[in-house]
Amino acid sequence: MQKNDLVGRLAPFQQQHVLRFWDDLSPAGQKRLAEQVLALDLPLLARLFAGEQQHVDWVEVSRRAEPAPAVRIADRESTTGGKLGFTRAAAIARGKHALAAGEIGIVLVAGGQGSRLGFEHPKGMYPIGPVSKATLLQIHCEKVVALSRTYKATPLYLMTSPLTHEEQLDFLAKHNRFGLAEDDLVPFCQGTMPAVDAATGKLLLESRGALFESPDGHGGMVAALAKSGAIDHMRRRGVKHLFYLQVDNPLVPIGDPEFIGYHLLAESELTSMAVAKQEPMDKLGNFAMIDGKASIIEYSDFPRDVAEQRDATGGLKFWAGSIAVHMFGVAFLERMLSLKDALPFHIARKKVPHVGGDGKMVNPAEPNALKFERFIFDLLPQAKNPLVVEFAEAEVFAPLKNAPGAPKDTEAYVHQFLLAQHAAWLRAVGASVADGSRVEISPLYALDAEQVKQRVKPGEQFGGDRYLR
Ligand code: UD1
Repeated sequence: MQKNDLVGRLAPFQQQHVLRFWDDLSPAGQKRLAEQVLALDLPLLARLFAGEQQHVDWVEVSRRAEPAPAVRIADRESTTGGKLGFTRAAAIARGKHALAAGEIGIVLVAGGQGSRLGFEHPKGMYPIGPVSKATLLQIHCEKVVALSRTYKATPLYLMTSPLTHEEQLDFLAKHNRFGLAEDDLVPFCQGTMPAVDAATGKLLLESRGALFESPDGHGGMVAALAKSGAIDHMRRRGVKHLFYLQVDNPLVPIGDPEFIGYHLLAESELTSMAVAKQEPMDKLGNFAMIDGKASIIEYSDFPRDVAEQRDATGGLKFWAGSIAVHMFGVAFLERMLSLKDALPFHIARKKVPHVGGDGKMVNPAEPNALKFERFIFDLLPQAKNPLVVEFAEAEVFAPLKNAPGAPKDTEAYVHQFLLAQHAAWLRAVGASVADGSRVEISPLYALDAEQVKQRVKPGEQFGGDRYLR
């Protein structure tokens, strides 16, 4: 690729400055930069910077939104099945049937940088097991292995990003995929978006020979599934629905038959798991109806006056928080692929260190750049028969997000939830767990309370630090 060809592409968008150091680069460096430039969607960047994408006034939208209808825990527990009209037992049976038929795949998104945690590796490599020190990736993989053993081989589609791909793949290879069969682990890498200067819209250089780019948000999953061939893999394996989770939450009941069953019985294209928020400003996406469509309004966009509204019973009006666990129909995702701009970009102002005009690094003290990301949950308004199902927080949600010292979502917080859940499973079968002891259950020992029943006898006693595997 000649420099002139690149200039020809960049100049109509006033971006030719990215070639400023071209002549100082090695041939290999020139090749790498040329590849980055050729992959750019310059018209899209220009439109995003010009604000031509419809700007959403979230404060205004939130103020006219209504709470989204949801299946509450009481509905799930009712013998008639509440408003859905089918019972929990029927949902569980339907979900187990789909798992046994091999129709369910798991998609785990692990492309983020995890910057809030202050951990220098991909977050999935964090040793979170309270006794075992098992990593997040190990816990998720073992759950999928356990599902495969209980029902039928279930593939795990693992989304990485250029930032996390190699390290996570090496890690998984070193650990023999934590027991997953070769055809049951399908890694795929999401795309990236460049950052631009917030004042001028100019592309930023991370070094003299490279554009600054970052992962394009978990919404990048849809395009990446198709581009990587993962959708072909689903077709070959007969996978029709995907159970989606984020890497940071080791409590996710991966492949929960009841949740899958609701999705299938309601003929929903997108079903989401919700928990009841503890506080109005909890850092959770908020389920809401906007113009008659189920949607999620991100916590950072949700104004306090709306978050604090109460209903007639004194509870939070917008009580339903998203824990980022969803079921997607594969056919729905394929339909979304064919829709141009099914997912809008969210624009964030961030501090981005970069190479200045004089070739020296600039370390901005204030946000200087715009980053562009797509969010997967923006698919919700497009889905037919969307469904929101409430689960108890203690059973499904303890994410690792923050470094020690934060009030929530730290390592110690996650440990507490994992140990409490495992102790509750043991006590439910009549076993005893001594106060102060820490008993951790590997998914390979038991995936849920039901499987604990098959392994543990009433009256069995557990004390000290134990790892059941
Ligand atoms: C996210 C949700 C929020 C939800 C909460 C529950 C968003 C924007 N918000 O918040 O609604 O209530 O989780 O825990 O997602 N990721 C990628 N690629 C990317 C960016 C992120 O794979 O380009 C993955 C990360 O690896 C992580 C997940 O997405 O597994 C969440 O990203 P994060 O930025 O931590 O979202 P939260 O602010 O915690």
